[in-house]
Amino acid sequence: MRLGLLSTARINGEVIRAAATTDRVEVVAVASRDGAKAHAYAREHGLERAHVGYEALLADDAIDAVYISLPNGLHHEWSLRALAAGKNVLCEKPYSRHPAEVEGAFDAAAAADLVLMEGLMYRHHPQTRRVQELVAGGAIGALRAVRATFSFALHDLANARALPELDGGALMDVGCYCVSGARLLAGEPQRASAERVLGSTGVDMALYGTLRHAENVVSQLEASFVASRRQRLEAVGSDGTLVVEAPWRADWGGDVVLRRDGSTETVPVEQADAYRLQLENFADAIEGKADPLLGRADALGQARALAALSEAAQQGGVVTLRTGPELAA
Ligand SMILES: NC(=O)c1ccc[n+]([C@@H]2O[C@H](COP(=O)([O-])OP(=O)(O)OC[C@H]3O[C@@H](n4cnc5c(N)ncnc54)[C@H](OP(=O)(O)O)[C@@H]3O)[C@@H](O)[C@H]2O)c1
Repeated sequence: MRLGLLSTARINGEVIRAAATTDRVEVVAVASRDGAKAHAYAREHGLERAHVGYEALLADDAIDAVYISLPNGLHHEWSLRALAAGKNVLCEKPYSRHPAEVEGAFDAAAAADLVLMEGLMYRHHPQTRRVQELVAGGAIGALRAVRATFSFALHDLANARALPELDGGALMDVGCYCVSGARLLAGEPQRASAERVLGSTGVDMALYGTLRHAENVVSQLEASFVASRRQRLEAVGSDGTLVVEAPWRADWGGDVVLRRDGSTETVPVEQADAYRLQLENFADAIEGKADPLLGRADALGQARALAALSEAAQQGGVVTLRTGPELAA
């Protein structure tokens, strides 16, 4: 897979580093709104091709896929443009909080026989699979509750994360991981309620949400730009609990701890590079060797839950989620 980077975002560094560790992916091009920046970036990272403007990258026949690392509010527009240009798309999280956009984009990808994948890299880490298997396999008995947290202190209010016009906010930036973790363990939510703390720029600097899932499972989510750096996923069951200390960035280190029957056990987890596994799954999907781990149903489930939590936080009260048969998959 010959990949082009659509922007010079900071997160590209992880993708360039991960691509260098696999022979499945070659990062060959970058585009920036600023030509000097594109050329300097290509030189610094040893990339063959630098493009002035994102359209030029999409017109480049030397690439068959693009990595979209733009601010959230630009994900959908540029994913659609990339698909229309015949490129496979790996788009950073969160794809969108608008279910209709997700449906439109996946329809466009299917019609063009291209792969579109949302870049929630933690899902590719073996730790995530292990946690999912333990909970689904009854290691803590019947699941009762999920608690998911992701926070860090955002001081730079000029950053896209703090700008409403680029769809910033804590829910979108870090809350999308909490939503994903809750959905992974407890299934698609049926109802949402939330409280938010608005910042001076108009985005949610913190959002505290509750999701009600089937079988009386409730998840509580905390997404915050006004607390210190924390991440945690806890699954509470009838017979025990499972605590994942570094659920979203397993590489930052932290145990998976299983407590039941008065005993505490640290679950061994294989070390792995989630960014490399994500790229390899994307390449496999393009070559028809595997399904994308994160396809249409997952992106749609994410968008529906994000939309419901946003609406609940804005309006107060409980929002009932629309569910569709495609989410049963
Ligand atoms: N999966 C992960 O681990 C992870 C981690 C961090 C972030 N992310 C996601 O990756 C995306 C990028 O995050 P980031 O922190 O890496 O972003 P960033 O460093 O702020 O870069 C965003 C890039 O978008 C381009 N851009 C185009 N229009 C822009 C505008 N109006 N304002 C600002 N930038 C604009 C810029 O590139 P040019 O100037 O070159 O055109 C800029 O370098 C976000 O969606 C975020 O949620 C994912």
